[in-house]
Formats: sequence, structure tokens, C-alpha cells
Amino acid sequence: MAEDFIKITGTKSEIYQALIPQIQALVGAESDFTANQANIAAAVKESFDFLWVGFYNVKSDSLVLGPFQGPVACTRIKKGNGVCGKAWAEKRPVVVDNVNLFPGHIACSSKSKSEIVIPLIKECEVVGVLDIDSEQLAAFNNEDLLYLNEICEWFVNTL
Ligand code: SME
Repeated sequence: MAEDFIKITGTKSEIYQALIPQIQALVGAESDFTANQANIAAAVKESFDFLWVGFYNVKSDSLVLGPFQGPVACTRIKKGNGVCGKAWAEKRPVVVDNVNLFPGHIACSSKSKSEIVIPLIKECEVVGVLDIDSEQLAAFNNEDLLYLNEICEWFVNTL
């Protein structure tokens, strides 16, 4: 059954390599955008010890909070604001090793120390972002970028 999610232990790369086909199985069987974002957020959160994993989706001039796992979060972010708004404005992933050193960082939780944001780009337009926060400094590296990009690109191609 698709809902039987298997969490593995191992290196970051091994965890992503076990996670990605499970996400593809979960999402491939369902066409609902919200349901799929909810399961992707849950699967990533369950696989890693991240503080917050979720989506913000573009609705007119703002990013609006979508499905997520973790502490409550701010609901709207303007283009260019915070890490999420920067990823939207610049149409590229943004990795922040220390959120306290990022000008304009929007602190939804004082526990958050580092962050990665991957834009969801459909036909050259950002339709949303995947945002992940960690309680550890510099939690995200090129492996996270590689695999999270792969997840986001794959997901966008299902839309
Ligand atoms: N820190 C983000 C805001 C969203 S929360 O992390 C969930 C930002 O600066 O855009």
C-alpha cells in the first residue's frame, strides 16, 4: 500500500535515494495538488530530523502557506521578502547556513537555525516553493540541493 512509508537510516544520500521513489509512488497515484504537497512534506519530515518542512504557493502577489509539517508558520510572504521570497524573486534555490545572518529572514520559529528553499518552476514561472528549516546550523549542503531539486522538478512535471 502506498501509505506504508519506510523510513531508513543511513547517509543523507542513502536516505534521499530511499525517499524519492516512495514520493514518486505516493504522488504518482494521486492527482490532487494539496494532497501531494501534504504527503511530500510528511515524507521529507519523517525521513530527516528537520524542524519544519512545507510549501508556500504563489497566489497573486504573495506566497501563501500550503501543506506543511512542523510548528505553526507565517501565512503570507511578499515577493523578495525573507528566504522564500528571495527564492521566488530570483527563481533559484536559496541555502542559508545561519538564518540570523540573513538580512530580512522571516523567523517563524526561534528554533530555526538554517534553511533551504527550492522554487517550484512551471513553464518558467514560480508556482510555489518548498521550504525546509533545521534546528542545526548549516544543515543543508549540495546533496540536499541536488535531491530536493530532483523532487521538486519531478513534482512540477506531474502538474
Ligand atoms: N523563514 C522563512 C519563512 C517561512 S518559515 O521558515 C516556515 C523565510 O524567511 O522566508
